[in-house]
Amino acid sequence: MCGIVGYTGFQDAYEIVINGLRRLEYRGYDSAGIVLDSYNNTFDIAKTKGKVDDLVAISENLRGKAKVGMGHTRWATHGVPSDRNSHPHLSNNGKIALVHNGIIENYDTIKTMLVEKGFTFQSETDTEVLVNLIQYFMDINPDIDFPTAVRNALNEVYGAYAITVMHDDFPGLLVVGRLGSPLAIGLGDNEYFIASDASPFVEFTKEAIYLEEGHMATISLQDGVDIRTIIDNSKIDPTVQELKLNLEQIEKGGYEHFMLKEIFEQPKSIHDTMRGRILVDEGIIKMAGIWDHLERFKNAHKITIIACGTSWHAGLIGEYLIEEFARIPVEVEYASEFRYRNPIISDKDVVIAISQSGETADTMAALKLAKEKGAFIYGICNVVDSSIARITDAGSYTHAGPEIGVASTKAFTAQLTILSLIAIKLGHHNGNLSKQDFMKLITELDNIPNKVEEVLASTHDYVKEISKQYADATNFLYLGRGYNYPAALEGALKLKEISYIHAEGYPAAEMKHGPIALIDENMPIVIIAPKKGHYDKIVSNVQEIKARKGKVIAVVTRGDEQVASMADHVIEIPDSEECFSPILASVPLQLLAYYIAVLRGANVDQPRNLAKSVTVE
Ligand code: F6R
Repeated sequence: MCGIVGYTGFQDAYEIVINGLRRLEYRGYDSAGIVLDSYNNTFDIAKTKGKVDDLVAISENLRGKAKVGMGHTRWATHGVPSDRNSHPHLSNNGKIALVHNGIIENYDTIKTMLVEKGFTFQSETDTEVLVNLIQYFMDINPDIDFPTAVRNALNEVYGAYAITVMHDDFPGLLVVGRLGSPLAIGLGDNEYFIASDASPFVEFTKEAIYLEEGHMATISLQDGVDIRTIIDNSKIDPTVQELKLNLEQIEKGGYEHFMLKEIFEQPKSIHDTMRGRILVDEGIIKMAGIWDHLERFKNAHKITIIACGTSWHAGLIGEYLIEEFARIPVEVEYASEFRYRNPIISDKDVVIAISQSGETADTMAALKLAKEKGAFIYGICNVVDSSIARITDAGSYTHAGPEIGVASTKAFTAQLTILSLIAIKLGHHNGNLSKQDFMKLITELDNIPNKVEEVLASTHDYVKEISKQYADATNFLYLGRGYNYPAALEGALKLKEISYIHAEGYPAAEMKHGPIALIDENMPIVIIAPKKGHYDKIVSNVQEIKARKGKVIAVVTRGDEQVASMADHVIEIPDSEECFSPILASVPLQLLAYYIAVLRGANVDQPRNLAKSVTVE
């Protein structure tokens, strides 16, 4: 949801900002812009609808011109993607430039006030209102300094923001602020970097300050980084963190797309999720987040899982896992619904938020509500130190590594791994799982990375081949039962978000209650049918589909004959405990979505209208 980069130092600011924007393009990519201050009394600015490549095409002349600058890659909220609505935005007097990630909710009221004072607006954005509000505070009080004007303006707005601001009369100075959207400051040797995450500056420094909620910073080579609270200007002593990120993790490493790289990383990412947590030889699961709060979970009246999108699908599988093994009632809610429906939550409840980015606005707001109601709040996040990770009482990181492809793949299987660990741990602690069953489950889970490796090796070429037959499809159905019903939802989401083919996921038995009407010889149906649980029932579902001439792509357990004999295409996965089968089944479905999207010429890593981290509601 918009990416921000800023730089002040001794290197070419154009290079740093443009390369940084490329790394942040996953956050939004409908327009891009850059502003440089070459100390010549006027900003050099270029911005355009389109991608960072389009920006470069119109701004090469700025290369080498300045040592201070900032840029933006946009995911539109207020105002359509257009050159005019692209950031940076300038104040009416042309002296202040601002880039913004988030939403200023009261922009309309402020705009009305500014128009009355004679301000004019070029764009439809909320951002242009903020930059002019800063000018307004400087106009009405000529003695005020620039950072104070920024603070005054921020105290007038509500909503979510991460901003970077430059003033032409204060060359070399960058003012940043944050509320609800992330911002990191990289501390180099005589240079400073600003970015929505650390990826734009990871090759230049390993030290960063993650700006806290409600804080702003004034950054210059002369005076370093001065951090204050926005509300009352109190000075803050920041914590400098050592970055764990490395360049390899954020580059494609020879793959055509990040998504394919991330699909293939899953044996490792799942292994990393479990590293140090499953100790099969000692017969224990060791997870500090849960370990310290076992009684709180055990005595919970209910567990509510809140999440959005793919993370919500992981949550549904979490419900099956926790109810089966720990016998604690679980509800799974869309964060966006939960936060607005006055849910019944008390201090006897545990609320688990699942979020890859740890920044999703709805999930964050739902968590805050649960916290207000006294619940114990637990986070499952991939991004370390993200907003959700910070506000939760406890939690577990998924440690899947940076996920850059907009369609979530490895984060999803890492979330399933964590949820499995939690459910099995609780089940054992609560006395519902015998030592023998516990050992069987952890031994199998420990082996899942090898099985995922096997799935990738054995299904990749076949899935790539069959995707040719479906690249022109207009609709898809995905069906599964039990643990694999949410896996069907996730398979459908993957396909629709990157290929733009309409796809729906359903519990297989629900097919008869409506979707069956859609089935004819043109309808591809992906059916997840491992030889477990309700296998016989799913065999009947496949028969019903074939009776209506639907095309069946079946994901089955290796060696399956019954479903395989009816299906048009058979994708085999290794046998496993039913509860882990969604991890194995999801991998070929990710590949299917990927190859269909590639064949359709879609931009797999940056699907239209989507952004990796949805920091606005
Ligand atoms: C789909 C996808 C989204 C996210 C959703 C929640 O591939 O990535 O549906 O899962 O926006 O994001 P997080 O997990 O960051 O809260």
